[in-house]
Amino acid sequence: MSSMQGKRGLVVGIANDRSYAWYITKQLLANGAQCAFTNLPGEKMERRVRSALDDLNVKDPWLMPLDASNDEDLDALFDKVKSDFGTIDFIVHSIAFADREYLQIGKFHKTTREAWTLALDISAYTLLAMAQRAVPLMTDGGSIICMSYYGGEKVVPGYNVMGIAKAALEHTTRYLAAELGEHNIRVNAISGGPLRTLAAMAVGGISEMFEHHEKRAPLRRNVEGEEVGDTAVYLLSDASRGVTGEVIHVDCGVHVIGV
Ligand SMILES: NC(=O)c1ccc[n+]([C@@H]2O[C@H](COP(=O)([O-])OP(=O)(O)OC[C@H]3O[C@@H](n4cnc5c(N)ncnc54)[C@H](O)[C@@H]3O)[C@@H](O)[C@H]2O)c1
Repeated sequence: MSSMQGKRGLVVGIANDRSYAWYITKQLLANGAQCAFTNLPGEKMERRVRSALDDLNVKDPWLMPLDASNDEDLDALFDKVKSDFGTIDFIVHSIAFADREYLQIGKFHKTTREAWTLALDISAYTLLAMAQRAVPLMTDGGSIICMSYYGGEKVVPGYNVMGIAKAALEHTTRYLAAELGEHNIRVNAISGGPLRTLAAMAVGGISEMFEHHEKRAPLRRNVEGEEVGDTAVYLLSDASRGVTGEVIHVDCGVHVIGV
């Protein structure tokens, strides 16, 4: 398969070899894409991302530090992408953050203004922040994807303020799709099932969530990272050239079950 042959883009969100972004990268590389990466600032973070990429046989990655809540970091990243590559074809936004103190069952109503603002800034606004900087670099059109979760549509106890952030992220996807379509830039989201990542482990009641998904999902199991990776390849490749503003559930079907 080589549906990403000749396409180059930026992957934001690898923390380690369990991250959704890592699985997306795995499938992108297998399909011929050329990827650039970011790490949270700091030597330890950089080492972890390099080691995760080494597992994918990426020996000398294009890597820049990025705290996506910092506009100067974002400007520096996109300036460097422009000077090194000129143009890009895709962006993978696979980041989220919320103070875990408020990701506990029964604690949503305790959320502070600060915790709310931080969660929505890092988990939702950053999609817009990256998209606006990507427009001048996507001169031949492009495809941008982000990662959501069902807790942005329905109440999932413990997901709390992150559910509010995912609702904002999914609607940001639609508004961006509406405006950027005139540049032939598509914007879509993947609503992934639960995966045992660092971010997931911060959510209260996560073990019950895994059990619930396994029992309730039409496919009677939880999703695998590569399955989300394959959908990412579809959304970032020309195979999905008529698709934008969409949220695709890759969750073994659990979202269709009412009770
Ligand atoms: N794991 C799941 O069950 C699951 C399910 C559906 C959606 N998602 C979503 O997938 C995406 C990736 O999460 P993951 O589960 O792979 O966990 P992860 O912990 O592996 O990845 C989260 C990433 O966000 C990055 N990040 C956090 N704050 C940042 C900042 N200020 N600037 C730049 N990067 C920052 C971290 O460095 C990390 O790489 C998130 O949007 C998450 O909400 C996860």
